Amino acid sequence: MVAAAVLAGGKGTRMGGALPKQFLEIGEMPVIIRSIKAFVNSPEVDIVIVSVSAEYKTYTAELIEKHIVTDKGIIVIEGGASRGDTLYGVLKFMKARNILKDSIVLTHDAVRPFINERIIRENINAARKYGACNTCISAVDTIFISSDGKFISSVPDRSTVFHAQTPQSFDAEKLLILIENTPEEIFQTLTDGCSVFSYHEEKVAIVEGETYNIKITYPEDIKRAENIIKENF
Ligand code: CTP
Repeated sequence: MVAAAVLAGGKGTRMGGALPKQFLEIGEMPVIIRSIKAFVNSPEVDIVIVSVSAEYKTYTAELIEKHIVTDKGIIVIEGGASRGDTLYGVLKFMKARNILKDSIVLTHDAVRPFINERIIRENINAARKYGACNTCISAVDTIFISSDGKFISSVPDRSTVFHAQTPQSFDAEKLLILIENTPEEIFQTLTDGCSVFSYHEEKVAIVEGETYNIKITYPEDIKRAENIIKENF
């Protein structure tokens, strides 16, 4: 089975405003609906699990009802206090439903509404082949490392540096086992599945992303997102 997990349990504090950013409308559609639709429309995805905080469960179910017509299962579950806890919750839900074993899970930030069919397909193939993958784009700017925030400590070769996007996709059972073998205090610093794989020195393959696969984080990203819709969608 291929499950898509749309992670939407965050509060959007950097965006500000009363309604978390995943529920804001861009191009006349809530951000979260655009993300869910991408997976619903992908023929290889069997089920979509949407994680939101408890107070938005009914609201989210109503939005899905209003905007999406499909025979595919879309299940709304409760997210956790951190992104990592939300991810862990998805895997525990899959285990409880007996859909963990031999499954691939694509984990996606609800606030990245511009994924496409190619990215989804390549994530599924890479997760099947390698056990884990991360959607990435090459760094355009040179990146500096600074250990104290005041002086540059090192300059990595730009050709070896990538920006991480989502989806990140995994052998779902392996990810759960690795999470459960990560000390709690370390897990709370990791926030995503690829970091868990890397912590255990497991391989994570790179899938090519898109520059327009942005994460909506700050108010100025709304304008960028509207321009992306005009140009690409
Ligand atoms: N997320 C989640 N559960 C959490 C925290 C975050 O599912 N407890 C999700 C967010 O909803 C978002 C994604 O993880 O889709 C990426 O997180 P980020 O952009 O940091 O979102 P927020 O945590 O909402 O933003 P902020 O840090 O500004 O509060």
